[in-house]
Amino acid sequence: MGNVALFHLICGIFIFWSVSLVKAEDTYKYFTWTATYGTLYPLGVPQQVILINGQFPGPRLDLVTNDNVILNLINKLDEPLLLTWNGIKQRKNSWQDGVLGTNCPIPINSNYTYKFQTKDQIGSYTYFPSTQLHRAVGGFGALNVYARSVIPVPYAKPAGDFSLLIGDWYKSSHKVLRQILDSGRSLPYPNDLLINGQKQSTFSGDQGKTYMFRISNVGLKNSINFRIQGHKMRVVEIEGSHVLQNFYDSLDVHVGQSMSVLVTLDQPPKDYYIVASTRFSRISFTATSVLHYTNSQTPVSGPVPPAPTGQMHWSMLQARTFRWNLTSNAARPNPQGSFHYGKITISRTFVMANSAPLINGKLRYAVNSVSYVNPDTPLKLADHFNIPGVFNLNSIQAYPSGGSPNLGTAVFPTSHHDFIEIVFQNDEATMQSWHLDGYDFWVVGFGSGKWTQASRNKYNLVDALTRHTTQVYPKSWTAILVSLDNQGMWNLRSAMWDRQYLGQQVYLRVYDPTPSLANEYDIPTNALLCGKAAGRHT
Ligand SMILES: *[C@@H]1O[C@H](CO)[C@@H](O)[C@H](O)[C@H]1NC(C)=O
Ligand SMILES: *[C@@H]1O[C@H](CO)[C@@H](O)[C@H](O)[C@H]1NC(C)=O
Repeated sequence: MGNVALFHLICGIFIFWSVSLVKAEDTYKYFTWTATYGTLYPLGVPQQVILINGQFPGPRLDLVTNDNVILNLINKLDEPLLLTWNGIKQRKNSWQDGVLGTNCPIPINSNYTYKFQTKDQIGSYTYFPSTQLHRAVGGFGALNVYARSVIPVPYAKPAGDFSLLIGDWYKSSHKVLRQILDSGRSLPYPNDLLINGQKQSTFSGDQGKTYMFRISNVGLKNSINFRIQGHKMRVVEIEGSHVLQNFYDSLDVHVGQSMSVLVTLDQPPKDYYIVASTRFSRISFTATSVLHYTNSQTPVSGPVPPAPTGQMHWSMLQARTFRWNLTSNAARPNPQGSFHYGKITISRTFVMANSAPLINGKLRYAVNSVSYVNPDTPLKLADHFNIPGVFNLNSIQAYPSGGSPNLGTAVFPTSHHDFIEIVFQNDEATMQSWHLDGYDFWVVGFGSGKWTQASRNKYNLVDALTRHTTQVYPKSWTAILVSLDNQGMWNLRSAMWDRQYLGQQVYLRVYDPTPSLANEYDIPTNALLCGKAAGRHT
């Protein structure tokens, strides 16, 4: 038998074996997680952090596309807790989103079993606590969704796979940070920047091999720039999109964002710096780790590679290079380019302007003049049980109103199957990062100054990538398109947690007048009930 014939035979066996795994792969995975406090020394001084199963960062959640996750979370903190699954689309299932608009927080010494599916998703994601500023002190971790073996990814399988959770860090406890915000002041500068909760860590690999680095910004406020001394990074995936595989010396990753890069260890055997530093901030912090070649005898040396000198403009140009590979598939075998998003008529436009007003003498953050306050009853439960008085659908304008800033529970009414445009208008002089739950969206344009209808002429309507979190540059705008194909109550929020905490968030109620279990699952039988929903029956 010739080599080619042998190759085909092996491929045939492989395909047969893969197909026979399909059923086995749509599998259930069970987890029991316990959240506790612990004392750690990330900056050399003791501080209280949130551990999950004794770990900080929390356990890496490795899943496969279409896995069913049954995750029982036990709360052993002294405060109610919720985890959210950042970028997991929760199809038909906002019940499991883990934010206060959809879920009651898990009481102290109690538990809640999340049940969700990573339906048609692939990529690097994260999870983190969504309430009480818990995220400032841990409880976060990596959430990786791997492709099913029957769906090829557009790169060779790497020799290893590292998750790097990078974020600004405070020595103060979340309770102290909360007091600052509750008293109407802004957060101070952080104390440092950590990679996987540490000031020093090492990632080892063999010379000549290629490794995946999954980079996520889990910080509260600061954009970061990431780079590896002497090595180029090939970006392959951003929040579920397979992008054109360009090489980069350094990458900006904004708060709440994730991306996967491949790095080939093609340099002389020694150790190299892995560097992250904060960006666009007057006081800057740097974290370094080590890329260790297993055959290296030489410790890291030489100058730590510097951050790019280019600032906003540089970053915006880089962001425009992240584009869909139209011929590549994503979690499903059809090419990403087969969905012609640029040809769909926009049914509604929203312009969302962030601001930092004083309300009742205290600093708040707002969207179109409304600073969000959480009601005692999750919006989703109020909707389900028809409980009046929790929210109303006229509490916020779809455009900046110029009205005086006020507190409110802002919910945008939208219709299932609408195709909407959202313009994030940032008239402030600081960086913004916006996240939408339940969806990924096309990031079609960035521009400086005020968005106008003419800005649409510059949209990328061909190969914009989809993602769940987008940055908005100071005194600039970012435009996204969203296909509202996922019914439910979805949080649209600042990914910067002080801003989210003080009101820079809203909900999109994606509604269908004809209820159908084909479009949205029923309330889970174990749903926690609180506020005005307490005592109801699921
Ligand atoms: C709490 O955990 C138990 C199993 O230990 C489970 O049966 C129960 O459904 C969980 N509670 C909720 C609200 O999910
Ligand atoms: C796009 O994807 C195809 C199919 O997976 C792949 O062969 C090609 O190299 C990719 N192109 C770029 C520029 O990344």
